Amino acid sequence: MAEPSGRALAVVDAGAVERNCRALKERVGEGTELCAVVKANGYGHGAATCAAAALRGGATRLAVAAAGEAEELRLHFPDTPILVMGALTKEELRVALTTHAEIAVWREDFRELCSRMSADLGRMARVHVKLDSGMGRLGERDPEALIELARSCHDDQRLELAGVWTHFATADELEDGFLEEQLAVFRPVAEAVSEIAPGCTVHAANSAATLRDPQTHFDMVRCGIAIYGLDPFQRDPTEHGLEPALELHSYVADVKRFERGASAGYGRTWRAPEDTWVGVLPLGYGDGVRRGLSNNAEVLVDGRRYPLVGTISMDNITIELGPDTDVEPGTPAVLIGPQGSGRILAEEVAARLETINYEVTCGISQRVPREYRE
Ligand SMILES: Cc1ncc(COP(=O)(O)O)c(C=O)c1O
Repeated sequence: MAEPSGRALAVVDAGAVERNCRALKERVGEGTELCAVVKANGYGHGAATCAAAALRGGATRLAVAAAGEAEELRLHFPDTPILVMGALTKEELRVALTTHAEIAVWREDFRELCSRMSADLGRMARVHVKLDSGMGRLGERDPEALIELARSCHDDQRLELAGVWTHFATADELEDGFLEEQLAVFRPVAEAVSEIAPGCTVHAANSAATLRDPQTHFDMVRCGIAIYGLDPFQRDPTEHGLEPALELHSYVADVKRFERGASAGYGRTWRAPEDTWVGVLPLGYGDGVRRGLSNNAEVLVDGRRYPLVGTISMDNITIELGPDTDVEPGTPAVLIGPQGSGRILAEEVAARLETINYEVTCGISQRVPREYRE
């Protein structure tokens, strides 16, 4: 029997991230840069390792949400352009600029702050002006006001107008026409800003838009979920030639005989319908196996699927092995990923939780060690 990998282990295939990036880069073609989005610790996969793999696969830039994330990455990538996409407090702005990250700007008062701080730090800041073309989150809604802001960034000796960008709200909803509406709002603004600062980078597409519509590609695409081999449309990632990079492993720590009617776990939410065997796996919601999967998931052992039974605890889950079992304590188990001829996708786990694959991998907690394989 294979040695169990420990109570909980996330195995990340950096080679898969590299290959996914190569496939995305091929899709967008020569004229479009690939920016790898590695925020939230690379969607739970490990930011620095995945960023390195993405750069090997043809990405030329990185993006994160927070200044601290850029600071961390800068230690590994001294020369790679890193865009901080999120809102920044004054202190966070200082961190971002000190770390030579590029930043998002959409308000005049923030532009002035960037300008003053750049002067203090004695360096130019590279800024990307952001249009809210319909996402209703960060960005300037008024196209004219954004063009005006772009002009004042361009005229400011301490700032370099490096980009104009927006973000789509419904790129992953294939039947929805709102992406085209957002594009129609963004395109003339991008053209106007490009006239002000020829050579500035126009970017809009996330993974779903990149896979769905070449019109969204412009000068650069910002792909997150797809680089990890996860499907932005919540279907099978292999349909788009993507390879899931992350597997979640554990093992069967104990195998116990249950008499009919005996219960497993808090609240006794599952009782043995007949005399049966139950396997105990030593991981739980403290590791990111969400409690919503209680009595609502399957786990692979010896390549076969077994139902997760009972309420998920912080550190343990139970699976029903059936009235006759050859599973022994110490047998490796897989909660996400392939094993033998079986396979459990993060998309399946997400569907059971009525959420998205993003939340499943981001939710794998810090307690779970990440092991990198090529
Ligand atoms: C502004 C922005 N751009 C790009 C991305 C990457 O999106 P995805 O992971 O769907 O490719 C995100 C992620 O949420 C984002 O917030």
